[in-house]
Amino acid sequence: MKTLGIETSCDETAVAIYDSEKGIIGESVYSQIKMHSEYGGVVPELASRDHCLKIVDVFKHALGDQSINSIDQIAYTSGPGLLGALLIGESFAQGLSTALNIPLIAINHLEGHLMSPMMEFPEIKMPFICLLVSGGHSMIVDVKEKGDYEIIGQSQDDAVGEAFDKVAKLLELSYPGGPCIEKLATAGNENAYDFPRPMIRSNNLDMSFSGLKTSVLYKVNKINDLDDGKKADVAASFQKAVTDVLVAKIKKAVDQTNRKEVIIAGGVAANKFIRGEFKKLENLLGIKVYFPDLKYCGDNAAMIAFVGSKMRANKKNINPSKVRARWPINELIK
Ligand code: KG4
Ligand code: ZN
Repeated sequence: MKTLGIETSCDETAVAIYDSEKGIIGESVYSQIKMHSEYGGVVPELASRDHCLKIVDVFKHALGDQSINSIDQIAYTSGPGLLGALLIGESFAQGLSTALNIPLIAINHLEGHLMSPMMEFPEIKMPFICLLVSGGHSMIVDVKEKGDYEIIGQSQDDAVGEAFDKVAKLLELSYPGGPCIEKLATAGNENAYDFPRPMIRSNNLDMSFSGLKTSVLYKVNKINDLDDGKKADVAASFQKAVTDVLVAKIKKAVDQTNRKEVIIAGGVAANKFIRGEFKKLENLLGIKVYFPDLKYCGDNAAMIAFVGSKMRANKKNINPSKVRARWPINELIK
């Protein structure tokens, strides 16, 4: 069974093919980051137009020399994300599905992130806890079984990736900020500045990152001659503060649910410092911690094809449009 996955929810145009026997057998991702970095963030209309320009080539590249007729079904991201961008992926998927007369499945982007490590580690079994940290979302999900996801904690304001991006902007680094902060932090002292760890001791699993970002802003404004060394110290201290909060919340989540496996997914899961701190929990708590392969931390279509491969659709669900900007992961079965 071959599932073609299509992802266009934000600034990556991606297509991949997942074979139930062999795994991923073709994939291609075109990132618009360079175009958006000029503006310091994603410009929705430019994103849609660029998806339109690139999707056919990305599809051809993913397909390679495989026959288009060997595809059994199509899975595409229908939300959450930028509406205009999602519509490009959906229209392309609908066209292919109609032309090939094969089923079409609308996939939740967050479910893609959440299941992404299972492509590489088939030993992962539900239930598990997932910390999903990206540019738009920061949540702790109790993954009970396929499609039954309970959000047990989430950021009350900024997403973790968003906080990284904003702090990077303060330090005059480029977009997206996460990888730049990570790189700069390797040269810095994580104890140089004592930034707050918001909600670290609250007795729930919710988080908050906007106050931390503001505290970094005040600190940066007070530092005379913000040279590269001081920037590195700010980056390392900020990264440590965020990580301390995430680790504390996951410890609490494990304690509360008694789950033995934890997945960290989403763009921020690419951060090696964060990965290292979470790996330490394996011995400390007697749990297993999994991350997606680095290339599957950010947006990609492999994770969408993979989720689709676990689902079956009838041929009639091509219309109406299923695209939605907001689609909480705990509302999948509705
Ligand atoms: O999952 P993703 O590619 O797109 C969304 O669905 O949001 O996540 C992008 C976010 C950006 O905010 C980016 O700065 C952050 O993930 N990110 C990182 C790292 N790589 C990407 N944050 C921290 N460290 C990284 N290495
Ligand atoms: Zn994403």
